[in-house]
Amino acid sequence: MTRLAGKVALVTGGSLGIGRAIAHAFSREGAKVAICGRGKAALELTVEEIRQSGGEALAFEADVQHPEPVDAMVDAVLGAWGRLDVLVHNAGVNAPVPFLEMPLSQWDRHIHINLRGTFIVAQRVCKEMVARKQPGSIIFMSSVNGLAAEANLAHYNASKGGMNLLAMSIALELAPFGIRCNALCPGFIETRLTKPVIDNAPAIADYLRTIPMGRVGQPEEIADAALFLAGDESRYVTGHCLVVDGGQLIRLS
Ligand SMILES: NC(=O)c1ccc[n+]([C@@H]2O[C@H](COP(=O)([O-])OP(=O)(O)OC[C@H]3O[C@@H](n4cnc5c(N)ncnc54)[C@H](O)[C@@H]3O)[C@@H](O)[C@H]2O)c1
Repeated sequence: MTRLAGKVALVTGGSLGIGRAIAHAFSREGAKVAICGRGKAALELTVEEIRQSGGEALAFEADVQHPEPVDAMVDAVLGAWGRLDVLVHNAGVNAPVPFLEMPLSQWDRHIHINLRGTFIVAQRVCKEMVARKQPGSIIFMSSVNGLAAEANLAHYNASKGGMNLLAMSIALELAPFGIRCNALCPGFIETRLTKPVIDNAPAIADYLRTIPMGRVGQPEEIADAALFLAGDESRYVTGHCLVVDGGQLIRLS
């Protein structure tokens, strides 16, 4: 398992859910992995799990909405391991609210964490890659909601749509530097974000009808797609939105 041997990866929101599965998958493939997120306990647990499996990992309690903690984290990763090859910007939030009732604070929270955070982390990491003349792979954890709208998620839909266009913009400007940038667009994946729906029998039965494959996805299935985008197998892929959704978008569109 050496698809990422010798590489260093940063996974934001790597303590839980999809990000945690990606951190484990990258470590299994030989990468050193830095994760950040909110909540020290979950961060420490994931790092401990990776170390127990023989991998190298570092954790940072950094809020991606603000440049200062992101700068401190990137400096620390470079200080420890001397390079940064892969960024998976996965940190994100999603709290449904009908459009007419949406307070500005909820709009701002989603745009700040999901979109402003993406800009802050990606710009800092890309600047390092360019300055070091080092090629790299940038992966944004977007969503099918960045490609088709879902009710009560105007803030989330808009933030994920913005992430997709930001990925294409970075791909366009940084291809000459050997930096690829792609968005991963998962459908409905079993994590704490989706637990309230999964635990509600009538709601999940309704939801499953929208998924041609008839089941929810698992974080490991997104991690496999992230591995593809991180490694050399995707060396000619940039500016792409890779949908991993059991066929859900076929019906949404
Ligand atoms: N679960 C799904 O069905 C699904 C579908 C499509 C896209 N996504 C996207 O995948 C990503 C991960 O979702 P998940 O379901 O694993 O969620 P999760 O709630 O299980 O994990 C979210 C992670 O992001 C971190 N985080 C949240 N706010 C942060 C901030 N301000 N700064 C730093 N870290 C922060 C958390 O600490 C945690 O590690 C999100 O961007 C989400 O929008 C999820």
